Amino acid sequence: MENKKIKIGLIGLGTVGSGVFKTLKNFDNIEVIKIAVKNKNKKRNIPNLDEKIVTDDPYEVVNNPEIDIVCELIGGLDPALDLIKTAIQNGKHIVTANKELLAKHGVELFNFAEEHNKVILYEAAIAGGIPIIMPIKTILAGNKISKIEAILNGTTNYILTKMDIQGASYDDVLREAQELGYAETDPTGDVEGFDAAYKITTLATLAFKKRIKLENVYREGITKVRAEDMKAANDLGYKIKLVASAKMDENGYADVRVHPMLISKDSTLAHIDYVTNAVSLTGHPIGHITLSGPGAGEFPTASSVVGDILIIAAELDKTDYLLPMMRCNHQEPAKNIEISDTQNKYYLSLNAKNNKGVIGNIGNICAECNISLESIVQKNVSENNTADITVITELCREKDMQNAVNAFKNSQFINNVNSLIRVQI
Ligand code: HSE
Repeated sequence: MENKKIKIGLIGLGTVGSGVFKTLKNFDNIEVIKIAVKNKNKKRNIPNLDEKIVTDDPYEVVNNPEIDIVCELIGGLDPALDLIKTAIQNGKHIVTANKELLAKHGVELFNFAEEHNKVILYEAAIAGGIPIIMPIKTILAGNKISKIEAILNGTTNYILTKMDIQGASYDDVLREAQELGYAETDPTGDVEGFDAAYKITTLATLAFKKRIKLENVYREGITKVRAEDMKAANDLGYKIKLVASAKMDENGYADVRVHPMLISKDSTLAHIDYVTNAVSLTGHPIGHITLSGPGAGEFPTASSVVGDILIIAAELDKTDYLLPMMRCNHQEPAKNIEISDTQNKYYLSLNAKNNKGVIGNIGNICAECNISLESIVQKNVSENNTADITVITELCREKDMQNAVNAFKNSQFINNVNSLIRVQI
């Protein structure tokens, strides 16, 4: 008896959609029967693509009664949200790579899917080709995860790696990355940390089994990181990376954020360069693990999408309640720690006048703000009789650090607060 083929509808045939289509050709039990694209006339270099299944109306996919699984690969909120809900209403399971949609409408979508007894799988939405969502749901399910530190954005990691290696400025490296196609013409979503914030929101929700709200995720991008900071960090034994982190304390308070961070050259994430992504998890009983790999790209992302499709396909027609372990309905909101109440170590770069008592003044301001210093370095005095002074603090409260920054801005000894970057603890 010939097995029934599982019917797939693709929404989106860009980089990821093309990779998914080409990869699915390797599976005899799967058939793509409808593909929605933006522009039907666009020339595509996709072998075996039957033009008859291509439409420019995505509702032809979600309303097609034959389709079992809809893959949403267009990104953004509108029309993706309505398309997914319509598809679920029409009895389809969903595979999506849409990190923004999950971060902003995750609760609504997962509840909606549950009400209709459908699943939404999203391995490709977080760290592209790295398998992290399914492992957390399955083989790591016995763990209490307390901490995530991750590099979830390839564009920013590429820029920071290049700045580090070339000693070049952010603006120069961004321009070069745009010319080479590594960075978008409008890079805001990547360089201001939105993309990583979407991903860590969903990842932390899953890991902590409590709903993290995107508006509670503290976010800072990489645009203020200077070549001089890279150099100073290197001299002190650190690299600077855009780190997406999430911690859950013993009292159930979540601290989820994205910001540049000085990380020790000895740490695993310090060795994750260019567009590579990595996720480090700390949990009990596993201890500490890091998964790394390609966070984007045609085939790496297709690997995750196709994996999700095959997981659903393997269950169809066998059970009325698919994948109970892999459903994601963490509705209870996590309690949240404000960034101002967190404890951090800091790298601070100050430009100071070359006067007697400057170092003492810096020490006094820190002491008055309840901040203890781990190190303070002044290498030389510039021709204009000023000096850059680099400070690493011990653990202190963010609130206290911000008070110190304000005091430095008002100090007669200090010309400028060049940079303030948190240091990995
Ligand atoms: N824009 C993302 C990045 C890839 O630069 O990593 C897609 O999530």
